[in-house]
Amino acid sequence: MNRAIAFDIYGTLIDTDGVLTVLSEQVGEKAPAICALWRNKQLEYSFRRGLMQDYQDFSICTRDALLFACQTHDVKLDAQAQRRVLGSYAELPAFADVAAGLGQLVDAGVPLHAFSNGSRAAVTGLLQRAGLSGFFQQVVSVEDVQSFKPDPKVYAHLAQQCALPASQIWLVSSNPFDVLGAAHSGLRAAWLQRDLGAVFDPWGIEPPITLHSLLGLADHLPQDPL
Ligand code: 2OP
Repeated sequence: MNRAIAFDIYGTLIDTDGVLTVLSEQVGEKAPAICALWRNKQLEYSFRRGLMQDYQDFSICTRDALLFACQTHDVKLDAQAQRRVLGSYAELPAFADVAAGLGQLVDAGVPLHAFSNGSRAAVTGLLQRAGLSGFFQQVVSVEDVQSFKPDPKVYAHLAQQCALPASQIWLVSSNPFDVLGAAHSGLRAAWLQRDLGAVFDPWGIEPPITLHSLLGLADHLPQDPL
């Protein structure tokens, strides 16, 4: 079939706020602020490492960002607390619409791929625990090219792994940097705006499609080339 949809994982299919319960046990009412800073700094570290060409597993960006966020909020996590919080990052829940939305696409015969900054092993485990691994043809990880989104190298790698031209692949992501990066690299991209208050970066490029749920996704994507 000459079409495919690739899905970003963290924040798109998997809810990174899933760590809030365990984080709250460790840091109390500072958890929401630390959680938000943690995610932003995790992504910033991946951008920096990509630009520096100093790749480390995404879990290192995640760990270092957690320590930064805690230090910023004057919180010290001991080794056991760090292991507990980071361990919860490996067991994050899927958003409520994901299984049904992916099932509709599989029923429509559309090949689906998971595409993430996370390592293949981390993402495979995450999807298995979330009950989603059966929907995907493969997990494509940026680790194969030792860089991070939105480096064009990672989108070229995705297209190679899908054995399709970039123009025949849709990327679905909740992360505007990922949507812009994919579009810049010739993929078709849909923004899954899970937070209605989220702002798409004012780069003069509107996302080709904006969604608020995975349900009915097949109806939103033009048949050509999909
Ligand atoms: C990803 O899963 C970090 O959400 C980004 O690649």
